[in-house]
Amino acid sequence: MANTGSGLGPPVGQLIPPRPSLRTLREAAAGCRACPLYRDATQTVFGEGSPKARLLFVGEQPGDMEDRKGHPFVGPAGRELDDGLDAAGIDRNDVYITNVVKHFKFTRRGKRRIHKKPNAEEIRACRPWLEAEIALVKPDGIVCLGATAAQALLGRKTTITAARGRFVPSPFDAAAWATATIHPSAILRAPDDEARRTERVAFVRDLKAIARKLSEAGSRTAAARRAG
Ligand code: URA
Repeated sequence: MANTGSGLGPPVGQLIPPRPSLRTLREAAAGCRACPLYRDATQTVFGEGSPKARLLFVGEQPGDMEDRKGHPFVGPAGRELDDGLDAAGIDRNDVYITNVVKHFKFTRRGKRRIHKKPNAEEIRACRPWLEAEIALVKPDGIVCLGATAAQALLGRKTTITAARGRFVPSPFDAAAWATATIHPSAILRAPDDEARRTERVAFVRDLKAIARKLSEAGSRTAAARRAG
């Protein structure tokens, strides 16, 4: 049913094409008006990366830079993510990176656009895009970056402190396992250089554990699923 009378368009479930590919999904998502966030955002920022990625990273929502450029994790948090992946020996070209919510949510403060957390309704409205991405990529593992992604995917009460470094069965059939680590913006928000260094070291430790998990024979299950 269309979300009539609110300026909203049809729910995401009605926008997903039959037998979608990542390309047709992205095209359909470009016109998404399923929640109010489309109104102020510049554009939909859909996931990107290898369609055969064994790792699928999920952040919260595009930031200011991502909203302008139309690509996920290309701003300051994206640079932290790139550096972390590099240090852990994970090639960004081999992974798929997306967000729980595909439009930038913000409040204006003068000329600045200040990130605002998406609410449960916005996360719910956007979820079918993420589910469709996961179903197509069929990664071995899903990596939640930060609490918003971890709570959306692993359960409302998830904390990063408890979930990081742990591997749990994926809540999605198309993936084998899931884990969580900090959102790279947590490094940027650390109060001083020393705290930033500590956050970075712990982030890279998590990413290295993820790289090791991938190299375990057992995590080939999703690759076998893909082939089958
Ligand atoms: N933060 C996110 O969660 N996602 C992005 O794409 C950029 C910043």
